[in-house]
Amino acid sequence: MRKKLLLGNWKMNKTAEEAKEFALASKEMVAYAIAHNVDVGVAPTFIGLQTVVENAPEGLIVAAQNVHEADHGAYTGEVSIPMLKGIGIKWVILGHSERRGYFAETSEACNAKMKALIANEMTPVYCCGESLETFEKGQTKSFVEDQIRKGFEGIPASDAVKIVVAYEPIWAIGTGKSATKEIAEDTIGYIRSVLASLYGEEAEKIRILYGGSVKPGNIAEYMSEKDIDGALVGGASLALDSYRALIENLVG
Ligand code: 13P
Repeated sequence: MRKKLLLGNWKMNKTAEEAKEFALASKEMVAYAIAHNVDVGVAPTFIGLQTVVENAPEGLIVAAQNVHEADHGAYTGEVSIPMLKGIGIKWVILGHSERRGYFAETSEACNAKMKALIANEMTPVYCCGESLETFEKGQTKSFVEDQIRKGFEGIPASDAVKIVVAYEPIWAIGTGKSATKEIAEDTIGYIRSVLASLYGEEAEKIRILYGGSVKPGNIAEYMSEKDIDGALVGGASLALDSYRALIENLVG
């Protein structure tokens, strides 16, 4: 049985002070999630990570939004795994479509980062998803399959089960135009079948999230689908009251 997961991707939002306020106020909400056997987390900017770790209740997952695979070196503007580990970060989002689109992040680059994270006993959240154009051409499955195969290249089953996948159709991100639960399940079920072709029955252990205009009002629909194990949420994860409503409606 896969444990449900709600992860809030704050993107480039919240100052350190605002992130701290959220962390301090999240105690009861995190306790509620834990009591209902749900994993919950947030992904602040690099600036917000430390204060959230220091001020959040135990049990809140705190994820970075990117990392570099090298331990240190001449990589201006980057942050390494030992730096994240040093402040207690164990999760990292990789390959978000905004990073792929604006910062040329590739599936191959994500693959190297995933291997480095796993070697450090950290959890990658590997994002995939197609553009509106690809969706309209009916090429979603082959596009996403390519991202999955490249992302998981050379990763054995024993490590693959530690990775979380997030399927986020780009046309649904921040647009208010969420994918229907049928579309989300169709693609996520397909992703699981691709993982099964690589890892056999172990693919059943890999958590796959849906993301793209998830709100308190629609999260329950996605959770009713058999292959969807939770959500990666942008806008609706920023305010405490809506984050709390997301958890409540995810629990059902
Ligand atoms: P929204 O929930 O704001 O559509 O963003 C989704 C997303 O990109 C999460 O990573």
